[in-house]
Amino acid sequence: MAELLEEQRETWGTRGGFVLAAVGSAVGLGNLWGFPYKLYDSGGGAFLVPYIIGMVCIGIPLLILEFSLGHFTQRAAPNAFGRCNKRLEFVGWWGILLGFVIIMYYPVILAYCFSFLYFSAQSIINGTALPWAGSGIEGVENAKTFFNETYLHKIDGPGFGNMQWHILTPLIISWVLMYFCIFKGVKLVGKIVWLTVPLPFLMLIVLAIRGLTLEGAMDGLVYYLDPDWSQLAKPTTWRLAFGQVFFSLSLAYGVMLTYASFLHRKSDLNNNAAIICFADLGTSFVGGIAIFATLGGMAFVTQQSGNGVGVADVVDGGPGLAFIAFPYALAQLPGAAWWSLIFFFTLVTLGIDSAFSITESVLAGLVDKTGWKRSIVLPAMTVVGLAFGLVFVTQSGLNWLYTIDGFINGTWGIAFLGLLECVALSWFYRIETLRSHANERSDWKLGVWWNYAIRLVIPIVLGTLFIWSLIDDVTKEGGFLKTPDGEWIVFNCVGLCVMAMVPIVSIALSLVKSPVYTGDGHGVQKTITYHTSYTNRVLSIVAFLMAMISAAVLIVIISVHGTNIANMKVWMCYALVIGVAAVLLANYQMAKLDKSNIAPTVFNRFAGVIGTLDISACIALTLVTLTGTAAKAPRETAAKGLTSTSYIILAVACLLIAGGLSWCFWRAMTASSDEDKSIQYPSS
Ligand code: PHE
Repeated sequence: MAELLEEQRETWGTRGGFVLAAVGSAVGLGNLWGFPYKLYDSGGGAFLVPYIIGMVCIGIPLLILEFSLGHFTQRAAPNAFGRCNKRLEFVGWWGILLGFVIIMYYPVILAYCFSFLYFSAQSIINGTALPWAGSGIEGVENAKTFFNETYLHKIDGPGFGNMQWHILTPLIISWVLMYFCIFKGVKLVGKIVWLTVPLPFLMLIVLAIRGLTLEGAMDGLVYYLDPDWSQLAKPTTWRLAFGQVFFSLSLAYGVMLTYASFLHRKSDLNNNAAIICFADLGTSFVGGIAIFATLGGMAFVTQQSGNGVGVADVVDGGPGLAFIAFPYALAQLPGAAWWSLIFFFTLVTLGIDSAFSITESVLAGLVDKTGWKRSIVLPAMTVVGLAFGLVFVTQSGLNWLYTIDGFINGTWGIAFLGLLECVALSWFYRIETLRSHANERSDWKLGVWWNYAIRLVIPIVLGTLFIWSLIDDVTKEGGFLKTPDGEWIVFNCVGLCVMAMVPIVSIALSLVKSPVYTGDGHGVQKTITYHTSYTNRVLSIVAFLMAMISAAVLIVIISVHGTNIANMKVWMCYALVIGVAAVLLANYQMAKLDKSNIAPTVFNRFAGVIGTLDISACIALTLVTLTGTAAKAPRETAAKGLTSTSYIILAVACLLIAGGLSWCFWRAMTASSDEDKSIQYPSS
């Protein structure tokens, strides 16, 4: 292993430029489009619990990890991992490729925003009402039919239908805009975001106030804030919530890592990561209030007309949610067309910096590895991304988008990659190096707990989620790929193929020899010598054997008894105890490496990884058994008002967001007054 030497690289202008660019990447359509629809699909408030926990307990530590790695290696994702350990390069490519899939459909959502912007401008110019306007029940119906029928000409099922040329034009506009935003490099990005980040916050507040003043808004808030706890017994709720944490923070796609690689050598990392997380959580939370209050208003109107549907049924859910609820809310404002114009303009500004951040990370990955010119790679990527995007511009495009988004931002996609990232850096690299790198330049310091969070806690949590969802999918009636009647589910088949191709292509890419690549010990790194003692070797093998025994017991249990372990509790406990012992032993040796240069052997590293998976499997199996018998009561509608639980959730969320942000700013201010100012405000 080796330590990196510092070298010159293009940098952001100021700390503010970097923070805003990172906030710009994180805060995007995911907050106003993705978050509400996933919450709505998971039956409401219960989603908030794993989401908030995930944001704070997984989001912040992982964001620091990515910042530290990017900043330390000064490379985009593939080479950053490659510089830690040549065999890990594929992890970086994996994230880049998942990002590449997102960049095919994300601009399509942006294209919808452009279209709505255009419709609003048109009604201002012609002096007519918005095309979906209407009062009472007519307004609700108009908002739905306008988006699904008039605009998308949506069809159901896995075919494609006709190409929708009127969506293709704004899609091209999105790509051209993204192109111009990044072709100059990150300095310009740092300037653009001063406009594109603050504006959306103002608009959101206006919409939240409008939503809250609609009659019936309270019912929407009840749906949003009052948890239906039985939803937490379903792996889907956790999968969607954790997937959304990664998507919303642009985590594991290599974006944050790439952005940090352009950061000035003395910049803060820890505090910036926390600021970004809290700002992102805050935006989603306020966006949720705006959208659910509106849904409450819509449900109220339909009830008035005698239809009597609750918030849970007032719209279909899925990725169309934001494009029905927001237009409806806007049409209810005086001067609707103007508000609509401003709102969709802000949505565009919100989405554009997220969209180009993905392009930037893919671009930087390719340029760093191949040494090709940005000016050639960027146009080529634009054309390829646009070409693949055509799938989503068809009549069935939104269905495909829904499928692919579900796979990428679910357990098979990004949550698994997050697990891999933690495992790779903590068991196959020296995590302490990254912690001290981050601490050397940050407003506040990370304790050793962070090493353990990355090495043990987060992998166990994500591993549990992965295995739990896997069992859930595999044991579905008819299986994951077929309906109970034996028909193929085309969407799932295609999604799975895409997911399977990503790791294969990333391994292939990591094997390609790079003309400019500088791997371990090629001049940019000073090599440190590590020692492995005899005791080390023996302990490593013992840990490895224990992890394997635990895994073997689990495999036997599952193959004999399936996933219901009710009768196998004793054996499960044995497996768990041996697994925990293996992990503790392996971790003990890794902790030695944290302090000195005594390195554990490769057996020890694998013992750690297999052991954590053993523990995850035991927890997942227990969850399957426990939740399998839990009553799946349908969500109660017609709640009268917020319960005390809702108030607790509201208070916790507000305190976390406001308190977290204030604390971070306070730390930034006190740190910059104590120490050398150039650390906070680099001169170049
Ligand atoms: N975080 C962005 C959003 O919330 C989306 C994004 C995902 C950006 C992945 C970069 C990478 O909209």
